[in-house]
Formats: sequence, C-alpha cells, structure tokens
Amino acid sequence: MTATLTKPVAGPRTLEDLLLEKRKFAPSKKFKDSAHANSEVIYKEGANFVKFWKKRAHELTWSKKWKKTLEWKAPFAQWFVGGKLNVSVNCVDRHLTTWRKNKAAIIWEGEPGETRTFTYQQLSREVNRFANGLKSLGAVRGDRVVLYMPMVPELAIAMLACARIGAAHSVVFGGFSAEALRDRINDCQAKILVTADGGYRKGHVIPLKQWADEALQEAPGVKKVIVYKRLSQSNPAAWTEGRDIDWNDLVREQSDFCKAENMDSEDLLYILYTSGTTGKPKGIMHTTGGYLTGAYATTKYVFDIKDEDIHWCTADIGWVTGHSYVVYGPLANGATTLMYEGSPDWPAKDRFWAIIAKYKVTILYTAPTAIRTFMKWGDDLPAKHDMSSLRLLGSVGEPINPEAWMWYRKTIGKERCPIVDTWWQTETGAIMISPLPGVTATKPGSATRPLPGIQAEVVDENGKTVKVGAGYLIIKNPWPAMLRGIYGDQERYKAQYWSRFPGYYFTGDGAKRDKDGYLWLLGRVDDVLKVSGHRLSTMEIESALVDNSKVAEAAVIGKHDDIKENAVFAFVTLKEDVSAAGGNRQAVIDELKAHVVKKIGSIARPDEILFTAELPKTRSGKIMRRLLRDVAEGRALGDTTTLADPNVVKSLKEKYEHLES
Ligand code: WTA
Repeated sequence: MTATLTKPVAGPRTLEDLLLEKRKFAPSKKFKDSAHANSEVIYKEGANFVKFWKKRAHELTWSKKWKKTLEWKAPFAQWFVGGKLNVSVNCVDRHLTTWRKNKAAIIWEGEPGETRTFTYQQLSREVNRFANGLKSLGAVRGDRVVLYMPMVPELAIAMLACARIGAAHSVVFGGFSAEALRDRINDCQAKILVTADGGYRKGHVIPLKQWADEALQEAPGVKKVIVYKRLSQSNPAAWTEGRDIDWNDLVREQSDFCKAENMDSEDLLYILYTSGTTGKPKGIMHTTGGYLTGAYATTKYVFDIKDEDIHWCTADIGWVTGHSYVVYGPLANGATTLMYEGSPDWPAKDRFWAIIAKYKVTILYTAPTAIRTFMKWGDDLPAKHDMSSLRLLGSVGEPINPEAWMWYRKTIGKERCPIVDTWWQTETGAIMISPLPGVTATKPGSATRPLPGIQAEVVDENGKTVKVGAGYLIIKNPWPAMLRGIYGDQERYKAQYWSRFPGYYFTGDGAKRDKDGYLWLLGRVDDVLKVSGHRLSTMEIESALVDNSKVAEAAVIGKHDDIKENAVFAFVTLKEDVSAAGGNRQAVIDELKAHVVKKIGSIARPDEILFTAELPKTRSGKIMRRLLRDVAEGRALGDTTTLADPNVVKSLKEKYEHLES
C-alpha cells in the first residue's frame, strides 16, 4: 500500500526563494541567560540519543526504575523497559508535595466569557473523583474510553482520570460528525463514552450530545454515557435512562482519593485517530513512559517553560497538539496551562489578544493558518491590547511562510520574543524539529534543526541522504514518544511508515536542507491534506462523496490556499441518470457538501466541487491527481503522455477556466 508520492515543492515559495532567505535571528542575551538550554552542548549530548532520553526520563516520577532504556526490534520500539509509573501521578500528585499544590494548573475561559481556575490540589480532587466514578461504572485497567467533549477543563480531567485507572482514552475532536465518532468508538471497542450536552463555537451551540446519541445508534458496545452539562438548563439534552449519567451526579459521592494504577512504561496511554492515505482513519497508539518523557522534555526545552509562565496552546485537545501541549507536557512540568473554548473571532476578531492581555499569557503556541488570518485582519487589533507579557511564540501544524513568520515576530512578539516553528505529527507524539529558543538562531520559515536526541534527514527517491537540496523527510532512530503502531493493524503500521525507505521512519513530508543544515518543511507528499491545520485525507473525502447515491466517482485534491494552506477541491463524476445542469447544479453541489459534513464533519466540507463526465486516468486506470492540481491551481498542464485520453483533462481545464471567469 505504499503511496505514490508527489515531488516535494514549496507551494508558492520556490526552493530558490528559500535559498535566498538570508535573515537570521540569534537568541537575545536576556533570553539565553535564563533559558533551560542555552548552549550547543545539549545538541552534542543528543548525539547519544539513548543516553540523552534516559536522562530526560529520570526527571519523571517512577514507582519502579526501568531495566533497559531501549529495546529496538525495528519497527517496534520499547522504551524504559520494565519501568513503572502513572501519568496522572506525574501530572498531578507529584506537584502536591511541593509549593505548586496551590498553583494554578488549568485556567479556563469559555467562549461566552466565563472563567474557571483549578489549582493542582483542586485538579487532583476532580481527577480522583472522576477516576472513582469511571470505576463505579465498571471501567477497568486495559479498557478504552472515548471522550467527545468541548474545550472544557473536564476534558483534561477525564483524560487524567483514564490514565489514573489505566484505561486508554481516545479523544474525538468535537468537530467530527456522528458517523466519524461512531467509527472511532467501534474501532477501539469502547464501553464508555464521555461527552457534554454541548459547547460553544462562534456563539453557536455545538450539539455534541445529539451527535453522540446518533453515533450510539450504531455503536452497541457503549453501555454508559457520562454527560457533562456545559450548557444552561434551557438546552436540555435528550436522555436515555440507565445509559446516560450526569457527570455531577457521578462524582458527587465519590471519594477524592483513587489509587493510581502502577502502569508499565509500555502500557497504552491513548489512541488518537488521524487521517492517513486511505479512507479509514488510523488509531495511533501512544504508551505511558515514552510518550510522557517526550511531551515533558519538549515542553521544557522548546517552550523553555518556567513556573511563572502562563502557557497558551490554542489547539483543541481533540488533536495531538492539544494532548501534548495543553494537557500532558505543561502539567508534567507543573506549569500553568490556559484553555480557551471557542473561536478567535468571537465576539470580535481581537479575542486572542484580549485573552493574552487578561491572563498575562507568556507563551503563545498557534498555527500558521491563524497567524495568516490575523495578518489579514490587520495590525490595529493586536495594537489595542497590552501583550507585553509574551516572551515566546510558537507555530505548528503547517509550513509557515516567511511573511507570516516576520509578521508574528514584529506585530505580536515586538521583535522581543523568539519564535519556535515546531514540526511534528500525531505519530511522533512530541515536537521533533524546532529551534531551542535559547540556543538556535532562527530563519523565517524554517523549523531549523532536529531536536537533540532526534535524527531527522532529507533523502532522495532512493533513500540516499541529501546534504543540500529537497527530498523526503525521514527519521533515522527511534524516539521515546514515537507511535507504537496502529490500533488493531500492525501490518498497516509497517507498510505505512517503514516500507518506503526501509529502516527509516517515513514522515510523508517533503523538506529541504540548506547549507547550514537547516530544514525547511515543504508540506505533504502523499494524499494527506492540511486544511487550516486540520489533518484530512483525500481518500476519506472521496469515500464520503462516493457514498452519496448521485456520485459515480470522485477525486479530491488540496488546492493551494494563501490562508488555509489547502482548500478541499473535489472533482466529481455523477451517475448517468443524475443531472447537474442549469439550476440544478448548485443544489447538487450543496447536497454533496452536506453529505461530506455528515460523513466526516464540517472541517472536511469541500470548498469547490467541479462536475466532470470523466476523470483523467492513466492507461492502467489510475487517477492523475497531479494534473487535477494543475487544473485547480490554473497552471499549464504537466506531462499528459501517460494518460489514456489526454483530451479529458484538457476539456476539464477549459471547463474550469470558463466557470472561473
Ligand atoms: C504538518 C500536528 C510544516 C506536516 C502536530 C505533518 C508541519 C503534519 C509543521 C502532521 C511545521 C506539522 N511545519 N509542516 N512546523 N507541523 N506540520 O498529525 O505535514 O495533525 O506531517 O500533527 O502537519 O499533522 P498532525
């Protein structure tokens, strides 16, 4: 199932543009002087990666030390073999014996404007009570529990409670549809679902419980549903007696002590579904000791986190960024993490800046799509707020273009804050390529160097190292937070990540290495799309389209978009008896868009749909997506000689140009 790869290109940036980038920013003396890492020594230390990670793992709290740091039977790694620990103990209990007991662990702001703060002591109480609640419903070590929640502190509490009793959680992003939720619940065979009556987004209510109820009609394995009541009583959710339990009723009588399970380092901590190159999302597995070591150490060094910080990662916890940098990384460090429920433009387009000023946020971690959107909204909005508390800025999820990077540096960071452009994936569990803010000089648009302890390289088609130039990004050695496989499908794990360049982990990304050894990420080279930082698969959207009874065939590509990175563009062949002519065209387009939203969620809604009698195919019947991208992006058509009928794509191009004009 090795995917055909597209050649790495830099989107609107040519490789030459990147080579011309001469600007370089060294860390300021002030930043360096107080940073956790402030010299090249740490990179040297990382050369012995096993020793490097062993030292980092020692900073966690283990109930039993491991016997062997790494057991590597490629492509299966075990880290800290024989070691025992519990993630909730590391994120909560160990801070209770220090002054941090009364420090804010989580500060939360709801979209309508409410705020709640949990000290570590308060967090401990809630985690323990909810853990006991889960147990009272029959949850046991080794179970899977699905969490389908808005961005409320109870989501983090539920994650930590699962970790406490040794049940793996699988968080499903609240923007996924009922059907997407159903498939994930069934794939991981969860018996318990934790959800909420709803959440707020752009002033609207997201009806999570209603979607959960729909999902559960075809997920018979779920016996208990815990519902956190986030909305006011005027929005009562439908209730299934005997199955649904109000979160508050569940925890009311529970003791605030629940013994933490003594977990093996390699026990499953969570499963997170992510899109791959097929229609079916993959359940990425992360285990206890290695994942926590990665999340902990990267938070410490990349964000240079300190006790005084207010760390704000704007990602939803439904994505891996939220797992590692809203919840596990900051809490394992005893830091203060800020959670915001809603949208950046509600009630006004300066909400992020208002939050920074209100809570005196010191570290801001967000996505290039957001940065580019803020740029478009103008400099007046950030200028209205006092953001002098900021001391570090981060970027994640897509390549950041140098213009957006410079804007972030000047307008938000006032040229005072280092920027860490952090490259990583759901699969890597933690940041892999990023500057260390007190050590690494940055270049706008480059994620700079692999972190100490990580060996990332650019290779050519044959797996040969590219010293200077473009190619495919691979990782050479195992790392603690690496995925342990795909839930229920280890063959797919091997094929997906370890077969294209034997012996190396293949990331699916293109990258360029410059003569200073700096890495410039160029985006995906497979059928994975990043749309506003959200990860989707072209195949998944195609499957959703052909599921509609009007559709015969569909091909989806990512069309370059200046803000969102990719826009979803679908080429659709309708069944012969279906007409999309004249006034009917828009109605069919609307129906198909709604169908994708129903199958996957609104994040996957196609931006454009173009009907075509035929799709350009090779003689062996393979759809030529590269040519479809040429059509969508208005370029001259590339090589068409392998096509069965070159006229198909020519007339498609004419048709699209005609529609556009
Ligand atoms: C992309 C998100 C360029 C990349 C943490 C990767 C990036 C995919 C960067 C993983 C970055 C992430 N620069 N591209 N700094 N960070 N990506 O699993 O294509 O949602 O393969 O994890 O995002 O997306 P995922």
